[in-house]
Amino acid sequence: MRASKTRVGSLYYSGVGNTEYIAHIFKGEFSKRRDCKVIFFERIKRDLDIGLLGKFDALGIGFPICFRRTPAIVFETIDRIDGSSKKVFTFCTKGMYSGNVSRSVLPHCQSAGFISAGG
Ligand SMILES: Cc1cc2nc3c(=O)[nH]c(=O)nc-3n(C[C@H](O)[C@H](O)[C@H](O)COP(=O)(O)O)c2cc1C
Repeated sequence: MRASKTRVGSLYYSGVGNTEYIAHIFKGEFSKRRDCKVIFFERIKRDLDIGLLGKFDALGIGFPICFRRTPAIVFETIDRIDGSSKKVFTFCTKGMYSGNVSRSVLPHCQSAGFISAGG
């Protein structure tokens, strides 16, 4: 019997394109795996239709560091998603100093019900 694949979703926020580039690398790696299936890959934007995202088991969220913080739109998007019992991991790109954003974004994900898989 074949085990069901982990359905992976990916959301990224990107201004110049660095985070988008890294998000594509993650997508490529998940796509190569036999135990995973990438079901959506979307840029975070104000009019992102959360209802159109497929059902996922694990979600990757990428963003750039802006002024030592996670961009507000990322938190706003997390708040719009039902994360109950879903795994989440985060990744960020930066110029020099991250300001330890994982310490704020991962607890925020957990408060939305996600299970943190790291960042
Ligand atoms: C307005 C602005 C603020 C930034 N603030 C920081 C910062 O506080 N710390 C840091 O390490 N990089 C900072 N950066 C650099 C970006 O995080 C970095 O270039 C990132 O890779 C950009 O990703 P993107 O191309 O996906 O937008 C900042 C860049 C911009 C444009």
